[in-house]
Amino acid sequence: MILVIGGAGYIGSHLVKGLVDKKQVIVLDQFSTGHGALVDRRAVLVEGDLGNEDVLDSVFRTYPIEAVMHFAAHSLVGESVVEPLKYYENNVVATCTLLKKMMKYDVKKFIFSSTAATYGIPKVDIINEETPTNPINPYGRSKLMIEQILEDFNKAYGLEYIVLRYFNAAGADDSGSIGEDHHPETHLIPLILKHLLGQREKISVFGTDYDTPDGTCIRDYIHVTDLVDAHIIALEALIKGEKQAAIYNLGNGVGFSVKEVIAMCEKVTGLKTKIEFTKRREGDPARLVASSDKIYEELGWRAKRSLENIITSAWKWHCVVGSSESKH
Ligand code: UFG
Repeated sequence: MILVIGGAGYIGSHLVKGLVDKKQVIVLDQFSTGHGALVDRRAVLVEGDLGNEDVLDSVFRTYPIEAVMHFAAHSLVGESVVEPLKYYENNVVATCTLLKKMMKYDVKKFIFSSTAATYGIPKVDIINEETPTNPINPYGRSKLMIEQILEDFNKAYGLEYIVLRYFNAAGADDSGSIGEDHHPETHLIPLILKHLLGQREKISVFGTDYDTPDGTCIRDYIHVTDLVDAHIIALEALIKGEKQAAIYNLGNGVGFSVKEVIAMCEKVTGLKTKIEFTKRREGDPARLVASSDKIYEELGWRAKRSLENIITSAWKWHCVVGSSESKH
């Protein structure tokens, strides 16, 4: 069985939907930001905190777990600056408790969700895994700390792991049944789509004076279904013993500015946005674009879905959620 921690969250719930056809899945989630309704019914659901030793003892004793995939983290850059303790307690301390229990029960295969925020403000246009890490906020630091702990656990205890550094995850499952649903929502694409559904008055563009062609920040948007495919390929490599300690970027390799994302949302929906240009948001690097060549060369994965695919799938989901919300 595969234990998916945070399997009721945005990326975790998409992974579970993709994995249940291949493996028995058990989801551990405290439902703080996750939603039980998003979890595929074929998965076993356990409600609990990943930092709770009793819950972990019970899960590892009850189920024959062969690998753990860990999605449960706080992940808002701005919030992490204001509330670092929350980030270090959950993303670092609780994750250490999980790792301790894995060692206790001799579960030694681990897939870890990391982030482009580990790179800070890179000095290169295209980021590969050799690009120095230098996170500029507690969120990025908390993820890098676990990456370093994993390296030490690999050497000392034989823990085998794959770290996946996501760039900007977005989009929704093609079925339209699950999608991105954060409360509060801070991410660009869902905010634009909610605005276009009439749920927000306008969309704010944070900063127009960046050193980019149109002055707005550039990001590498990656479809959540592409992320799911990468996780399943990584899990298979780990289980087969083909990889013992690896780090991979997950991105499209193409950057889009905030203005370009807005234009694509207008194209996909046929609707016009109302834009407000505001000052920069603290902690935003001008440009974050990935090279994912390493995972392509080593595991054969590459992103298949474009920004247009991402926004089309997200729009389908938001229309379903938006219409059900307006019925209540
Ligand atoms: N932006 C706006 N207006 C908004 C919201 C966002 O202009 O209302 C801009 C941001 O300034 C940024 C871009 O849109 O330039 C994307 O912002 P998001 O908040 O959607 O995503 P981030 O790039 O801040 O962060 C996301 C994840 C992080 C992860 C990072 C890695 O939330 O967890 O991608 O690239 F670390």
